[in-house]
Amino acid sequence: MSAELPPDWSSRFRDALSHTASLHRTRRARTVTSRDGVWCEVDGLRVLNFCSNDYLGLGARGSSLSMDGAGSAHMVSGHFVEHDALIAELCDWLGAEDALLCGNGFVGNLAALSTLCGRGDLCVQDRLNHASMLDALRSSEALLVRYPHNDVLGAAQQLLRECAGLKVLATDSVFSMDGDLAPLVELRSLASSQKALFYVDEAHSVGVLGAHGEGVAGFADLRLVTFGKALGSYGAALVGGREVIEYIRQYARPLLFTTALPPSVAAHVTANIREIRRGELTAKLAENRAYFAGLNVPGVQGGESAIFTRIVGDNADAVQLSSQLLEKGFWISAIRPPTVPEGSARLRITLSAAHTRDQIDALAEALQ
Ligand SMILES: Cc1ncc(COP(=O)(O)O)c(C=O)c1O
Repeated sequence: MSAELPPDWSSRFRDALSHTASLHRTRRARTVTSRDGVWCEVDGLRVLNFCSNDYLGLGARGSSLSMDGAGSAHMVSGHFVEHDALIAELCDWLGAEDALLCGNGFVGNLAALSTLCGRGDLCVQDRLNHASMLDALRSSEALLVRYPHNDVLGAAQQLLRECAGLKVLATDSVFSMDGDLAPLVELRSLASSQKALFYVDEAHSVGVLGAHGEGVAGFADLRLVTFGKALGSYGAALVGGREVIEYIRQYARPLLFTTALPPSVAAHVTANIREIRRGELTAKLAENRAYFAGLNVPGVQGGESAIFTRIVGDNADAVQLSSQLLEKGFWISAIRPPTVPEGSARLRITLSAAHTRDQIDALAEALQ
């Protein structure tokens, strides 16, 4: 008996890659050969970095981190005193009862939502939420429904669906590719009126917004905080009420079956949070944001967060503009689908507390 052979796997990959290339969607990482604050050497060019999420400049300061491994998961033997200190610092800073450390923000979202939502539950999300929040529902048997971006009425319609199980309303606080803010107060009222758990991803607001960088969603039931952006390191935490955190701690497979963050990373993040809590870096970033917004560069939108955009539309045009800016000494990457919706390729410009006025003026001139 001769079984039919499956198609050649290499042709399947080749076809997919050439299709992506035909759409000008192929991504290439540029290699940074050296870094000095916001200055980088990339592809042999010395350029100013205007596309990093290192909003406060803490990530580029360098440190004498020893990358000691935790050796195992928290629940085995990988939980160190440095982890406890970080959890205590996070809770004090963010006014939370408890926190749970995660390998990174993607895993944090995956752990939270895939654990909270199961069969018979409903998860209502903004259409532009981060990919990890949407993907989390793929590994859950809950129903995922999305509402149009920042549409509170749309969210209400979805949340009103019949559901005998748990309801979760989940949103980014600052949307990563647009830089705008979610209507958090309205969404919070909606969630509580429907007895839904309110979950907020604060990846781009912690360190950036709030008088001491504490973000904007302290009233949420559960929040994700990432350490790889304004906190200048790597990793993430879920912060919230004692009960919800304990539930995730006990049942989240993406956290139970994985190695804990290196203790030195936890110590480094704690030190960075203490610096952020002094407020000066966040205030400097706010000054830079207001200054750049006030320059009213044609086509550039933003100001609510450290993320500004210039929508270009066509993929090839966005890549070309980004390359032209790189030659002028400004690194601003082109963001294309599927990261952003079809036909809305863009330049995503991010500001840091480490940028000077002169550097921002020069960027504005180059963008003109
Ligand atoms: C809104 C949002 N959530 C989560 C993440 C994932 O965080 P991390 O980079 O720590 O995995 C990102 C990063 O791209 C993000 O933009």
